[in-house]
Amino acid sequence: MNKTILLFIPFSFLLWQCGTKTNDSAKSKAQALLSQMTLEEKAGQMTQLTIEMISKGEGFNLEKPHALDTTKLQNVIVNLGIGSILNVGGHTYDVNHWKEIITSIEKYSQQSRLKIPVLYGIDAIHGANYTVGATLYPQQIGLAATFNPEMAYKMAQFVANDVRGSGIPWNFSPVLDVGRNPMWPRFWETFGEDPFLVSQMGVAIVNGYQNTNNGTVKPFAACLKHYVAYSNPQSGHDRTPAYIPERQLREIYLLPFAKAIAAGAKTIMINSGEWNGEPVHASKFLLQTVLRNELKFEGITVTDWEDIKNLTERHKVAETYKEAVALAINAGIDLAMVPLDLDFTKYLIENVNEGKIKKERIDEAVLRILTLKYELGLFDEPNAKPENFKEPEQIESKKLSYELACQSITLLKNEGNILPFSMNEKILVTGPNADYINALNGGWSHTWQGRDTSYNPKVLTVVNALKNVFANGNVSYLKGNTYTQNLPENVLLNAAQNVNTVVLCLGEDTYTEKPGDINDLELDESQQNLIKMYKKAGKKVVVILLEGRPRTFAKTESLCDAILDAYLPGNEGALAIADIMVGKVNPSGKLPFTFPRFAGVHTTYDCKYTETLNNDFKPIGFDPLFHFGQGLSYSNFNYANMKIENRDVTVKDTVSITVQLNNTSAIAGSETVLVFASDVYASITPSVKRLRAFKRVPLDKYEGKEVQFKIAVTDLAFVGLDNKFIVEPGKFYFSIANLKDSITVK
Ligand code: BGC
Repeated sequence: MNKTILLFIPFSFLLWQCGTKTNDSAKSKAQALLSQMTLEEKAGQMTQLTIEMISKGEGFNLEKPHALDTTKLQNVIVNLGIGSILNVGGHTYDVNHWKEIITSIEKYSQQSRLKIPVLYGIDAIHGANYTVGATLYPQQIGLAATFNPEMAYKMAQFVANDVRGSGIPWNFSPVLDVGRNPMWPRFWETFGEDPFLVSQMGVAIVNGYQNTNNGTVKPFAACLKHYVAYSNPQSGHDRTPAYIPERQLREIYLLPFAKAIAAGAKTIMINSGEWNGEPVHASKFLLQTVLRNELKFEGITVTDWEDIKNLTERHKVAETYKEAVALAINAGIDLAMVPLDLDFTKYLIENVNEGKIKKERIDEAVLRILTLKYELGLFDEPNAKPENFKEPEQIESKKLSYELACQSITLLKNEGNILPFSMNEKILVTGPNADYINALNGGWSHTWQGRDTSYNPKVLTVVNALKNVFANGNVSYLKGNTYTQNLPENVLLNAAQNVNTVVLCLGEDTYTEKPGDINDLELDESQQNLIKMYKKAGKKVVVILLEGRPRTFAKTESLCDAILDAYLPGNEGALAIADIMVGKVNPSGKLPFTFPRFAGVHTTYDCKYTETLNNDFKPIGFDPLFHFGQGLSYSNFNYANMKIENRDVTVKDTVSITVQLNNTSAIAGSETVLVFASDVYASITPSVKRLRAFKRVPLDKYEGKEVQFKIAVTDLAFVGLDNKFIVEPGKFYFSIANLKDSITVK
């Protein structure tokens, strides 16, 4: 096919309004302050340490209860002028303790020569998860399944308020890595596999965090992470090499970062891993050429944990720590999450004095850090005002968390409409996640790995929620098989003697990062045994998946009557599951990723045509267990009358598409309408389809609505042979459910 290339599109055009906009007055104040600073003071500002470094105790063995150490505070904050602190020392604290921490740090920062306040950062990735009493929301993978950026925005506003209420103005969130490798233990921290969905949700979160509502709330900074190419390591293991062609990097992995930067995100955290053999912390191409020159990012780049030291200790690209410091800072790092030694600061100073790092590079980094401190208002309130500390919001946030969980939980299968249950149904609830709070929340919940439940005693587990909702004694419980061990069959069968239906709560234990690495994607044998055994005994089997990534179970999936994927739905998740199971809530989540059938091969929905082909010998083409965007409802929806207003277009046009969506049932519900586009022939093999728009539409019983979409022709661009975005003339199909129509780009 001979196609003339119609138009090259610079990234900035696709982003319509590109680049973080720093506040000019903050920048000029920062400039004035910078001009008074010594090299030592500047190096301090570029250093971030963990709270352990100013706490009583040794290393991670902190004294209990936690307390700050005044000698360390004097040295770190006053003598060395360290500019930033992070984390919690392994605990969740109440607001009073946060107040003590933040006000003490500020008291010391005000004793330093220039009285520069400290920037505190934290991982409040699904709620203020390190503040006692704060609501925990569904993790990002569940939020993505809601296809509801407006609600994600609201959630982010609540989270920002709660985190600020603990005196902290900076959140290491959202994760904008694109989740295309289900083996990766941080898959659940992503918004799934599609770059458009990730971008929409990511921008909503950034806006929710950073919108000051015309100055009515205090400023708060988002931190996009982990820039870039982190999420698809070849081995599937955390922090191992990713090999991604530049074309895919730009089209898939970079796009969400670009969109969130255009939305004004103030900071960005760098990927701990390596891209095509180069550690990202040492990559001038990614940190300068792309991030600064193309995406026009003006904010702070912060390293991930120990990642400058890792250039020597793990990546082996620098012989010494001191060389690693020069490599990373020269590549474009502004702030180092050191966070456990004082050598970084020393080596930074030595490198500058020896001419290995230019003074201008230091000034550029420090100017950005000080500008952010001014923008966040930290200079205006150096001694954190007592009235700024607030208990986390409890009532409205809980409702929102419940609503998000309801909208995320995805009904993947419902043979013979076994769900919703009638209240007369007698059920046995069993499986490792039936009575387990941690399986609802996953990692980054009160502790890094989310293994401590003592902070949320009131949270309902699935079995307790079902018992409450039924309230008639029809729900019985057996602990059942664990992730690794089988109970004797007679024990399992006896427990189910008086019931027709068994609800199996399966999935994963909690994890994040390295501790979550696995060597096999298949769901544990002991868990699949439960499905086999109860089915063989003639029971109806309903499976609830509580897990951070799709664990394959093709051989036993066919034995299940119903399957609900609840992802990691947060504190209110069990109630949402129970309400869906009895029909109080109509499920409306859609899978934000492709659920693989086999552990050995994973193909995303936007695969190439060749990946869909069977051959004469084997049906080997794309055939996932569940498709991206799949999700059932108790309502029946039908789509009709898809219309495209302008079918002959140029690259400057916007395509207007309408479709009639009807609820043909007597049950009110919500349907997410997904619009896919397919470039029919292109100079780079086109994806079979790409998500280009979506809308969640609530419908009353028997209600019909016309749903409209506007898609700019430039949004159909792909990255061409020379790694630039282009739109080529020719035919494009749009598809919505089973309807399809085309346009021609001239
Ligand atoms: C993680 C980051 C996190 C940082 C600070 C790292 O290990 O990769 O996502 O923000 O720790 O806790």
